[in-house]
Amino acid sequence: MLNIAVCVSGGGTNLQAIIDRIADGTLENVKIAGVISNNKNAYALERAAKADIPAFCVSPKDFETREAFHDALAAQLDALHPDLIVLAGFLVAVPAQIIRAYPGRIINIHPSLIPSFCGVGYYGLKVHEKALERGVKVTGATVHVVDEGMDSGPILLQKAVEVREGDTPEILQRRVMEQAEWELLPRAIGMFANKKED
Ligand code: GAR
Repeated sequence: MLNIAVCVSGGGTNLQAIIDRIADGTLENVKIAGVISNNKNAYALERAAKADIPAFCVSPKDFETREAFHDALAAQLDALHPDLIVLAGFLVAVPAQIIRAYPGRIINIHPSLIPSFCGVGYYGLKVHEKALERGVKVTGATVHVVDEGMDSGPILLQKAVEVREGDTPEILQRRVMEQAEWELLPRAIGMFANKKED
């Protein structure tokens, strides 16, 4: 059984996709040990509660220093004993101490075809605003392994999604989620679950 910790910041539709694929049996041998949010108002926390998954908030607002926040985040992750950490719309830069503690065992979903529209300042809706500003005709999503850079780790899966005439950032975001993200993230987790022997 692959034990996963899922880190979230907002709506949690990617978390929901993981929950749903486990429930319908598509994603086998995976258990969500816990969900961690940096934002106490994240709807993702309610999704976790509804699915009877332990949910925790570790907010930088509750700590005097960034170091103390990072230590608390690391401690909460360690307490879940995850085989894999899944960043599912987690809008906090994961500190090096956590990346070094879980080498090759942290994955992230990003709403573009990396290396386009990624790196510092490219997150959430902003990614789609920039894609529309640039006038690309195709965008998509990427699941990659997290390293110490920003969106720079090895790519695991990508899927292209077309941009249509009249798209707004919100419409494009929804299409990228529906056609790419909600499919790719459970699939990437399945790749780790299949590799694990016990
Ligand atoms: C998703 O589109 C995800 O790809 C993006 O945030 C959104 C979270 O939605 N992540 C990033 O931009 C990371 N750089 P969700 O909370 O509904 O899953």
